[in-house]
Amino acid sequence: MKSVDDFRLSFGKQQVVPIMIGGMGVDISTAELALEAARLGGVGHISDAMLPTVTDRRYKTKFVSEKQKQYKLNIEIADKSIVQFDLEQVAESTRLHVSKTMEAKRGEGMIFVNCMEKLTMNLPRETLRVRLNGALDAGIDGITLSAGLHLGSFELMKDNRRFRDAKLGIIVSSVRALQLFMRKTAKLDRLPDFIVVEGPLAGGHLGFGLDWAEYDLMTITKEVLAHLQSEHLNIPVIAAGGIFTGSDAVSFMEAGCGGVQVATRFTVAKECGIPEKVRQEYFKATEEQMEVNTTSPTGYPMRMISTSPSIGAGIRPNCEAYGYLLDATGNCQYIEAYNAEVARNPDVKKISVMEKTCLCTHMRNYDCWTCGHYTYRLKDTTHKRADGTYQSLSAEHIFKDYQFSIDDKIALPEKE
Ligand SMILES: Cc1cc2nc3c(=O)[nH]c(=O)nc-3n(C[C@H](O)[C@H](O)[C@H](O)COP(=O)(O)O)c2cc1C
Repeated sequence: MKSVDDFRLSFGKQQVVPIMIGGMGVDISTAELALEAARLGGVGHISDAMLPTVTDRRYKTKFVSEKQKQYKLNIEIADKSIVQFDLEQVAESTRLHVSKTMEAKRGEGMIFVNCMEKLTMNLPRETLRVRLNGALDAGIDGITLSAGLHLGSFELMKDNRRFRDAKLGIIVSSVRALQLFMRKTAKLDRLPDFIVVEGPLAGGHLGFGLDWAEYDLMTITKEVLAHLQSEHLNIPVIAAGGIFTGSDAVSFMEAGCGGVQVATRFTVAKECGIPEKVRQEYFKATEEQMEVNTTSPTGYPMRMISTSPSIGAGIRPNCEAYGYLLDATGNCQYIEAYNAEVARNPDVKKISVMEKTCLCTHMRNYDCWTCGHYTYRLKDTTHKRADGTYQSLSAEHIFKDYQFSIDDKIALPEKE
């Protein structure tokens, strides 16, 4: 009976334990979590979602208050098109977070940054260019391109001196999306170093419609593997979404994957950014509370616990402070939904907006409890205390459980 430890994931000459902890914005996959993955010989991700906000919290910069002050007079105005990011500040926050993380790195593993194209930041191409190049300049080992098709992202990095040595990969949910990406980047003569195939049970935004339940990760993964083989391309495929035990992971390795990307089990790690109180909500969640809805203004379905405070909240859009989801025209679907609701209820003080959510504010405050489908199984991975709360785990414990467990077993942590 094999365990994950019988396999290694190769990036050129470098070999790592084939476990990647997926990127989880906003600062859910913290530097501390990613550093543990690297120390244990695997791959950890930090996220570049809302980094100016994250660096304010972590490193006491003042990016958010400065931006909010600059656009103060726009707060009552529906048109947000003038609310632009200072590109130098975006670059600085990226460099700061990445370099501080990389300086602290120990061990044989690697640290990548998860970069979501859908964070359009009211100037999609330029802000993305700054984020990608900022991360490369600050010494990140690799970049995982996610949430969006990223058809132009390689182009944005092509003049960077690290374009060919950093590990660059993409998350796709179908062969078609992969083909589009490959076609678009062919002229750069630079293949991705890895391909994450993310299935419909993952957390965060999904690369599927509301018919997500009709798809299955193993089937899509095999299609991607067959496609690569037919093209004579030797690129490691990393399966993601619903891989809950070491044995689940082994089944993907045996199907030909180079590794797996996992996240949900780490949402209850002490090193993860989710505050303890919210972590208990993840432990407590039931299968019936696993919800895929369309409240994200990105237009992608997103999975979350149905009791998330973000659902139905009606706060004023906070684009002057944040504004990470403003599209190229300065619009966000939440602004439209909010304004329509205000117009329908002119005399109501506290409105509720059901269609969309102010994702920037709620993700920043850990009030949008996005999660993978198997979140309801987290309670089986630890001990319940006498007071009804659950014992948090260490990232090391979860990582090693994935690495060494067999027979679908989940090792419980030592009792406190
Ligand atoms: C709380 C949470 C937040 C996530 N946020 C992101 C994100 O910001 N960007 C992204 O590409 N994927 C995100 N994901 C997806 C994970 O990186 C990962 O691919 C997926 O959840 C793996 O499946 P699993 O959670 O069932 O192990 C998130 C997942 C979770 C659970």
